[in-house]
Amino acid sequence: MQKVIFVCLGNICRSPVAEGIMLHLNDKHNLNWTIDSAGTANYHVGEAPDRRTIANARRNGVDLSPLRARQFRTEDFKKFDRIFVMDKNNHSNVLKLANTLEEKNKVELLLNVLHPETDMEVPDPYYGGEEDFEHVFQLVWSACEKLAINGIR
Ligand code: 4NP
Repeated sequence: MQKVIFVCLGNICRSPVAEGIMLHLNDKHNLNWTIDSAGTANYHVGEAPDRRTIANARRNGVDLSPLRARQFRTEDFKKFDRIFVMDKNNHSNVLKLANTLEEKNKVELLLNVLHPETDMEVPDPYYGGEEDFEHVFQLVWSACEKLAINGIR
């Protein structure tokens, strides 16, 4: 069983998309993974994903409405095998909370799954338009599909 958590800043736009897509693929392919998401900030704790995020995911066949935002915490390093972050800011903020090299080594930029060692980011759509939410969905979908096929390394 593989245990994976996706992390962004607010846990209302990008990482809930990753959690919802991975849950969807988990069901579709009977993966039996543990899947979660969190934000490095506490601004939106307890909230559902952004309504634009929910609407875009729904158009793509993924229901995010049951998800609720929470903040990333140090226990998550123990609970999860891999911690996939959306951008370099999240990466450095999560690394600051790590206590050991083993914990640090669990943290990876999500798009490095698709394009190893290129350090590309999933752009924050919060101040963007509909097309930015769709772009996020497609990027995250491709990365999660690759995870589902190859497993986490
Ligand atoms: P997320 O997007 O990190 O993908 O959830 C954001 C959500 C909220 C804010 C920033 C980014 N905010 O500043 O409230």
